[in-house]
Amino acid sequence: MAHQSDLIATDIDAYLLEHQHKSLLRFITCGSVDDGKSTLIGRLLYDSKMIFEDQLAALEADSKRVGTQGGEIDFALLVDGLAAEREQGITIDVAYRFFSTEKRKFIVADTPGHEQYTRNMVTGASTAQAAVILIDARRGVLTQTRRHSYLVKLLGIRHVILAINKMDLVDWSQARFDEIITDYSAFAAQIGLTDFTAIPMSALRGENVAGPGPGVSWYQGPHLMSVLEALPVDDDLQDKAFRMPVQWVNRPNLDFRGFAGLVVSGQVRPGDKVRVLPSGKTSTVARIVASPEDLDVAVAGQSITLTLTDEVDVSRGDVLAAAQSPPEVADQFEATVVWMDDEPLLPGRAYLLKQGTRTVVAALSEPKHKINVNTLEKLAAKRLELNEIGVCNLTLDSAIAFDSYAESRDLGGFILIDRLSNRTVAAGMLHFALRRSQNVHWQAVDVDKAARSALKGQRGRVVWLTGLSGSGKSTIANLVEKKLHAEGRHTYLLDGDNVRHGLNRDLGFTDADRVENIRRVAEVAKLMVDAGLIVLVSFISPFRAERDMARGLMAQNDFVEVFVDTPLAVAESRDVKGLYKKARSGELKNFTGIDSPYEAPEHPEIRIDTTSETAPQAAERITAWLNGELDYTI
Ligand code: ADX
Repeated sequence: MAHQSDLIATDIDAYLLEHQHKSLLRFITCGSVDDGKSTLIGRLLYDSKMIFEDQLAALEADSKRVGTQGGEIDFALLVDGLAAEREQGITIDVAYRFFSTEKRKFIVADTPGHEQYTRNMVTGASTAQAAVILIDARRGVLTQTRRHSYLVKLLGIRHVILAINKMDLVDWSQARFDEIITDYSAFAAQIGLTDFTAIPMSALRGENVAGPGPGVSWYQGPHLMSVLEALPVDDDLQDKAFRMPVQWVNRPNLDFRGFAGLVVSGQVRPGDKVRVLPSGKTSTVARIVASPEDLDVAVAGQSITLTLTDEVDVSRGDVLAAAQSPPEVADQFEATVVWMDDEPLLPGRAYLLKQGTRTVVAALSEPKHKINVNTLEKLAAKRLELNEIGVCNLTLDSAIAFDSYAESRDLGGFILIDRLSNRTVAAGMLHFALRRSQNVHWQAVDVDKAARSALKGQRGRVVWLTGLSGSGKSTIANLVEKKLHAEGRHTYLLDGDNVRHGLNRDLGFTDADRVENIRRVAEVAKLMVDAGLIVLVSFISPFRAERDMARGLMAQNDFVEVFVDTPLAVAESRDVKGLYKKARSGELKNFTGIDSPYEAPEHPEIRIDTTSETAPQAAERITAWLNGELDYTI
C-alpha cells in the first residue's frame, strides 16, 4: 500500500514516468471532526507515506504533548493543525490535500462540515468524482449526514462511499452496521441516491481505511483505499457526444486559425462534422494540431488545438460540438443556485454568469422556493442569503450553448460573479431552458430607431440624474426639459415619485424593490430612446450596479450620467418633503443616506455640486453639455 516506491531511490525517471501515467481521483470527505474526519484524512496521508519526515516527527511530538490518544499518534492533529490556519481565512476556502498510492493519485477536498460552511462544501464538491460521507457508528444517520448527502447528490457526484466509522466503539456490531444502512437507504432513496458503498471502519486504528479490518466474519468487503483505487474516474464521459468550449483562438498568422480548449466530453477526429454554438454553423475538423505529429483522435480530458476546413466564425466562449448531437442554445433557464456571498441575492440585479469559457450577463428571478438543506423542505423565499440554496429562473443578455447539469457538469454548471466587487457570489446548476424563451422571438420592424430619430431631427438619448432624496434632481431635470423643449427637442421626463404612482406602485424601498424599480425604468427609458426621445430620468438610483446595468442597455454615448452631488447634511436640512425627519425618528425605514446606502457614481459624465451651483446654472450646464458634446444629428 505504501507509496514510497523503491524506484525513487533507484530510478527516479522511471518513478516519475509511472507517476505521470497514474489516473487521478478527486474526492471530498463530508463529516465533522467529531465523526473522525480529520483522523480519517490523516490516516490516508500517513498510510500512503505522503507526510514528510519533519511533519511526522512534529506529529509524534504533538501527539505525546496534546494528543488524545495516550501517546499514540493522533492523526487528527495533522489535519486540524492545518484547519486552524485555514479558518482564519475569510474567503471561500477549501483545503485540498494530495496523496498517491502505487495505483492512483488522489486529491481530497477537505471542507468543514457545519451548515455555515455549505459554500465551502459546494466548492470542494464541484470538481469531485467521489464523496466519502462519514457516519459515527454510535450516532448513526444525523441531520448533517442528510445535508451532506443532499449536496453530494445535487452536485452530481456519482460515487458515494458511506464510511461508518468508530465501529470499534460499538464492538464491530453487525446489527448496528445493518441498522445504519437501512436508515440511510430509506433517506437516500428520497433524494434519488440509489448507489452507495458502505464500509465499517475505525479510522483511529486504521481498520478498513488503508488496510484490512479486524477480521470480523460478517464483513468481507473491501477497505476504503481499495475502493478509492478502483472507482472508475471518467465514467462515460468519452462515450458522450463531443463538446469543446473554446478557450482561445490561436491566430499566429493569416494561414493558421486554431481553436484551443479542453475536450469536456466525447471524442473528436479529423473529418468529424462539428457545429459551432451558439451560432449553429457547421464545419469539419481538419487537424488536431500537436507536436511532433498531429493526433488521430482526442478524447475527454485532453486539452487540444484543432483547425476547421472552413472559415467559420468561432470565438472564445463558443462551443464546438458533434454536429449531429449538439447542445441546446437558450437565454432563459431554470436553475438551482447556491448563494455564497455575504450580500444576499438581489432578484433582477445583473450579475456576470460564467459557464465553461463563456461569460454573459444574467439576472435571476425571485426564488421559486428555497430548500431547507436539513429537512429538504421547500420554503417560500424572496431572496437567498449566504449558504442558502434555491431554484430561480435566469435571464441572460445573450444565448449560450448548454446541457443540463445532470448531463454535463461542464456545460450545465455555472458561477455568478458580482460585477463591481468581482466576487464569486453563487454557484449553480442549469436544469432546462424555459420554453417561453424559445417561443418568443424578436419581431423585426421596419420603422426603426434611426427612422424615428430622423423624423424628430434628433438622436434619442438618456440623461440619467442620480442623487440623494432632496438633492435637487427633479428640479434640475424639470428645468433641463423646459430648455430642451423650448429648443424644439422631443423629450420625456421620468421622475421616481411619479413613476412610483403607476408602473411601479407595487414597489417599496427594500434593496430588492429598488433594483426592480431601476430595472423597469431603465427598460422604459430604452424604449423611449428607441422612439427617438431625449429622456430625462430622475431617480435616486442608489446602486452602482443598476446604473451600470441601465448604461449597458443603451448604445454607446446614449447614456449621460449626471451626479447631483448634495451632501447628506444639506439634503437633510432642506427636507422639503419632511421625509428625513421621519427617517431619523425611525418612522420611515430604509431611507437612502440614513439606513439604506447611496453609492455615488465614480465616473459620471457630469457632476453637479449643488452647494456651489444653483439649479438654473446646473440646468444651463447640462443643456450646454448636451448641445456641445453630443451630436444630435443622425
Ligand atoms: S430609488 O431608490 O428606487 O431610485 P426613487 O427615486 O424611485 O428611489 O424614489 C425616491 C422618492 O421616494 C424620494 O424622493 C422620496 O420622495 C420617496 N421615498 C419614500 N420612502 C423613501 C425611502 N425609504 N428612501 C428614499 N426615498 C423614499
